[in-house]
Amino acid sequence: MDFVSCTLVLLLTCLSIHTFCLLLTRITKPNYKLPPGPTPLPIIGNLLELGQKPHNSLAKLAKIHGPLMSLKFGQITTIVISSATMAKEILLTNDKFLSNRNIPQTVSVVNHEQYSLAFMPISPLWKELRKICNTQLLSHKSLDSSQDVRRKKIQQLLDDIHKSSQIGEAIDIGTTVFKTTINLLSNTIFSMDLIHSNGAAEEFKDVVTNITKLAGTPNVADFFSVLKMLDPQGLKRRQTKNVRKILDIFEDLINQRLTTREGACVDTNKDMLDAMLNISKDNEFMDKNMIQHLSHDIFVAGTDTTTSTLEWAMTELIRNPEAMQKAKKELEQTIGFGIPLEESNISKLPYLHAIIKETLRKHPPVPFLLPRKAESDVEIGGYTIPKDAQVLVNVWTICRDPTLWENPTLFSPERFLGSDIDVKGRDFELVPFGGGRRICPGLQLANRMLLLMLGSLVNSFDWKLEGGMKPEDMDMDDKFGITLQKAQPLRIVPLKLSN
Ligand code: HEM
Repeated sequence: MDFVSCTLVLLLTCLSIHTFCLLLTRITKPNYKLPPGPTPLPIIGNLLELGQKPHNSLAKLAKIHGPLMSLKFGQITTIVISSATMAKEILLTNDKFLSNRNIPQTVSVVNHEQYSLAFMPISPLWKELRKICNTQLLSHKSLDSSQDVRRKKIQQLLDDIHKSSQIGEAIDIGTTVFKTTINLLSNTIFSMDLIHSNGAAEEFKDVVTNITKLAGTPNVADFFSVLKMLDPQGLKRRQTKNVRKILDIFEDLINQRLTTREGACVDTNKDMLDAMLNISKDNEFMDKNMIQHLSHDIFVAGTDTTTSTLEWAMTELIRNPEAMQKAKKELEQTIGFGIPLEESNISKLPYLHAIIKETLRKHPPVPFLLPRKAESDVEIGGYTIPKDAQVLVNVWTICRDPTLWENPTLFSPERFLGSDIDVKGRDFELVPFGGGRRICPGLQLANRMLLLMLGSLVNSFDWKLEGGMKPEDMDMDDKFGITLQKAQPLRIVPLKLSN
């Protein structure tokens, strides 16, 4: 059954329960003031107002009801934040009470919710894992020491594209970059490819794709707790298979590594897996199970987000040839004509950095961040965010707020040149990686991968659209999901560089 049918069937069958509940809530009505918002329908609340593009629909509703707005999604009271000032209230001022998460059904499979860094509540275990990510796994130092494996993966990407350029073949940039991103991550963690360019081992790619796809599918059971057991859309059942599969793949890799580490004279500090196994010697919680689940989160959180940012960046550069030329010139002057980019060169490329920031502004990959949950009643601006409410920060609309950004729909990396605004969670007009305690721990790695891939694609090839399409005719529509993807995949032909 699809989402809309489920919602309508539910509407009819639950009407009588609702009448009873209404009676009950009248008796026990809380005396707080919810933020303003559209009037909810019985049972389903405002679910039907979400439409195909919730980031757009909620931005329109915020124009009527304000930047702190309340809605009802089924049984879930949802607070939607639509201004930088209010985002600061959530991510900084009241971060302490708003840092937990609601657990979607597609996450609560194979006990993943208990081990998931992204979904476990703030707790000593979460703090320990974040500390390990920040100081060991994803720190500058450990990323510096793994840059060699990423350089090799970028060279492989360029070699593959070179083959297409020789026969004038268009490439689907999203698919190509997706594979490279998985291999960049898998080499950083396991020092090996999990996808091979000959297509023989597509299993891993399919599992990751399916996990993110199911996690992004609206699930009626998340809005009505009574349906959790029934799993009417079958999402939990399908997700269980996917998550089990990916955990099994990681278990094999961990077992293989444990066997090699038993041998004498092996380098036991080679990559992130070694780091985790070394940590496990002194810390009971970092057992095989935890390593499997942490690896799951890194792949699921890191792949679609990075891929979609890169696809949008290339799309915007093709559509804005002046920006493409400026990027090429900066690369030529700093790195040299046609030379592949190294991570050590990244800091010398302010225009490339500005392109990535402008892409993350115009197309924030996670448009509502990962939803937060209120641990207790929180007072903001005379209104109450009630305990257990879900909080969505509509980063998409904040990044297009005309009071914060001049010509917000224009792609203009120049707006970041000479500006201190960064994506590190301190400037609330630009928080694509979130902020506060739950800010994305993969920010540094994501930045490196994005700059490395984009700089290499731009400095090694010229590009044209497939089939003689003009840049101004490109479809710029987006498609809502767990990440905000380009609706029509970008297909472009790589060309030998011309001077
Ligand atoms: C362009 C790329 C990326 C973007 C835009 C992005 C964005 C985000 C956002 C918005 C959140 C939620 C923050 C919040 O609640 O305030 C998040 C959390 C997270 N991200 Fe990323 N991310 C990216 C890449 C990565 C990468 C490469 C990794 C892995 C190395 C990663 C791992 C995670 C994890 C584990 C969490 C959960 C953290 C927690 O809840 O404590 N992300 N990310």
